[in-house]
Amino acid sequence: MALFNLVNKTYKDTVEQSDLYIFGIHADEGLSAAFSEKHPNVSKQISMAMDKGEFKAKLNQAMLMYTPDCETASRYLVLGLGEAEGFTSDHLRQVTATAAQKAHGVKAGSVIVEFMGEDKLEAEESQALVEGLVMGGYRFLEYQKQDDEYAGIQNVTVLSNADLAAELEYGLQVSAGVVLARDLGNHPSNVATPTYLAETAERIAKDGDMKITVFEREDFEKLGFGGIQGVAQGSDVPPKFIILEYNGGGADAKTLGLVGKGLTFDSGGISIKPAGGMDEMKFDMLGGAAVLGIMSAVAQIKPKLNIIAVVPSTENMSGGKAYKPGDILTAYNGKTIEILNTDAEGRLILADGLSYITKHYKLDGLVDFATLTGAVIVALGHRYSAVMTNDQSFADELMDVGEKSQDRLWQLPLDEEYAEDIKSKIADVKNTGAAREAGTIAAGAFLHEFVAEGTPWCHVDIAGTGWLKKGRPYQPEGPTGSGVRLILELIKSWE
Ligand code: BES
Ligand code: ZN
Ligand code: ZN
Repeated sequence: MALFNLVNKTYKDTVEQSDLYIFGIHADEGLSAAFSEKHPNVSKQISMAMDKGEFKAKLNQAMLMYTPDCETASRYLVLGLGEAEGFTSDHLRQVTATAAQKAHGVKAGSVIVEFMGEDKLEAEESQALVEGLVMGGYRFLEYQKQDDEYAGIQNVTVLSNADLAAELEYGLQVSAGVVLARDLGNHPSNVATPTYLAETAERIAKDGDMKITVFEREDFEKLGFGGIQGVAQGSDVPPKFIILEYNGGGADAKTLGLVGKGLTFDSGGISIKPAGGMDEMKFDMLGGAAVLGIMSAVAQIKPKLNIIAVVPSTENMSGGKAYKPGDILTAYNGKTIEILNTDAEGRLILADGLSYITKHYKLDGLVDFATLTGAVIVALGHRYSAVMTNDQSFADELMDVGEKSQDRLWQLPLDEEYAEDIKSKIADVKNTGAAREAGTIAAGAFLHEFVAEGTPWCHVDIAGTGWLKKGRPYQPEGPTGSGVRLILELIKSWE
């Protein structure tokens, strides 16, 4: 998917006329002599604003200016970068996101971007610069007629003397993965059905030369997918169990496993959810969306390793055929599950996903993503996803790339003792933990039962980070695409 045209020019090149010239200054550095020389009028205006204390170059502060003497753009947007010391690439991601929103405000289709002076922009920052522009400028307009033809930023020229083309392109590929995950999360459940997710996966497979297998409702009984079969039986919408196999590294390379909860609508089933806010449960497929977003970026980036991705996908509905509290289901690994609450359905479809992937593939690491528990929002809010693991060094590695990508994780314990909470009197396990106690960990302890021994595994609960009610610079309200940048960073470090 082409997000926008991106070119990297040096300061000596001729640059085409743009709608907006975007640049940033540090609070403690002010304007550079080189900039002031090239843009005298704008520089005078900025100095005036700074002298009056109205523009302090605080992080994410923005000031739009019009000047008659500019040869490359009709408007300038100056952004505050805050103090130079301690400035990170995530700060830059926020700042360019702010810039993208301001660009929309003036309907700028083409922009010139200059940051950090002539040759100071580094690889990691270039990636972040593009991610901020795309993620901050993200809008979802499919279902609303627009009053004007403005189609967002179409052309971006990045000024730097260093050759950053590869890094900028990489930033664009990562961002496209995030955009796909967000789009899937925004589409309502009558559009983004399991079939829609399977079709999306098929497109990704074609683009990225991957193998795709999709199991249908009729296959579930034959294969022993009792978890997804049980959850899906209350819905007329056909469920899908989607498997993508990417072989980019051959037999000697590492293999990463990914599993994502693709629950396209969670009504709670017979243990029905309250009416208020139920509309938001279209986002219960964000784990699956993250996995598909990652795989779509993988199709472009073509990393030299192997990746297996599994997305079990269904609705969770009530009705005459629906599964009920008290029912016992048998998951793919043969373990029996007593259902105490049909709203704890995500773990049931993941049980099949995790047992399938760990039975059939030798994985060097396995990560599952799921909007699994409301409890994780109570514990961590919307900033960190919760991670639980059976392998501390793998979790440490994942938390590290979480810091690097700023797609952050916070660990919760998964000691054996928690397995007590999911013991059933009649089956091997039950699908709920102790009432009002450590709900996120109980879900993790449940999933642990379905990960075959010997696979380093992390469970990531994105119920808090996947969807925001209140936006942030590069995460507008709605789906964030959390998990996508995290795993792409892990993949980069594994190559
Ligand atoms: N999809 C929900 C989790 C969820 C809740 C995500 C709120 C985002 C916001 C999940 O299927 C669910 O309903 N979990 C229950 C589990 C409980 C019944 C043990 C929950 O968290 O209440
Ligand atoms: Zn539920
Ligand atoms: Zn759910």
